[in-house]
Amino acid sequence: MPADLSPIDKAKFLAAKRATEFVEDGMKVGLGTGSTAAWMVRCLGERVREEGLRVIGVPTSTRTAQLARQVGVPIATLDEAKWLDLTIDGADEFDPDLNLIKGGGAALLQEKIVATASDQMIVIADAAKEVAALGAFPLPIEVIPFGWQTSKALVEEMLVSLDVMSRDVTLRMNGAAPLVTDESNYILDLHLKRIGNPRQLALVLNQIPGVVENGLFIDICDIVVIGHADGRVRVKDINAGSVEDERMDVLPTDNVFADLD
Ligand code: A5P
Repeated sequence: MPADLSPIDKAKFLAAKRATEFVEDGMKVGLGTGSTAAWMVRCLGERVREEGLRVIGVPTSTRTAQLARQVGVPIATLDEAKWLDLTIDGADEFDPDLNLIKGGGAALLQEKIVATASDQMIVIADAAKEVAALGAFPLPIEVIPFGWQTSKALVEEMLVSLDVMSRDVTLRMNGAAPLVTDESNYILDLHLKRIGNPRQLALVLNQIPGVVENGLFIDICDIVVIGHADGRVRVKDINAGSVEDERMDVLPTDNVFADLD
């Protein structure tokens, strides 16, 4: 085990570990993408191997599918699983209403489909992801490669009439070439600084030809689990209207790192 986990990784690990306690035997679980979600997949794998927990995981990216296989979480496609009990995923930002910006890892399309096909979505995060208003993190949107520059121009034109603080739009690159998503699309990052009306923006973006999906998750997240490096964990449930503070004095055991052997 890497004994010297960074504070941010400790926070992510604790959030992930706590969130996997929501997973019950026999559940079908959406598996998010990103560094925090990777901790969750490892923790779930540990429960499968140690407790014999029976779950079916539905990964939201090829990366997550690979990790799930490595740590022993059985996986299925969404079409095979059809409807899920729970999705656990990270986020780039969450606001007081648990609306989210996602897609920093370019997996927003599968993430939104999987989360929407779940009875419940739990977001796992370190405290830095909590914001009063969304938008400091660039908002990703997935566009088809055909005519992407036209789609970008239409997005820029649309932003002029909306309540945002900045309007720069950039194509996400992977070295010298555009980054290509699992669905063979491109990502545009909208540098908005502050989004006045995320619900309106989410609706309007998806009306633009060429835009496949946007990274605003509105009314999708039910619970956020926030980890802190000092062992504090906050569980905020938007439906119950509850906020519970807990302590978790647990560090990753060797077993969590099955994929790093
Ligand atoms: C992946 O596309 C994203 O939605 C991630 O869930 C998000 O970027 C959070 O990633 P980290 O957990 O790595 O910060």
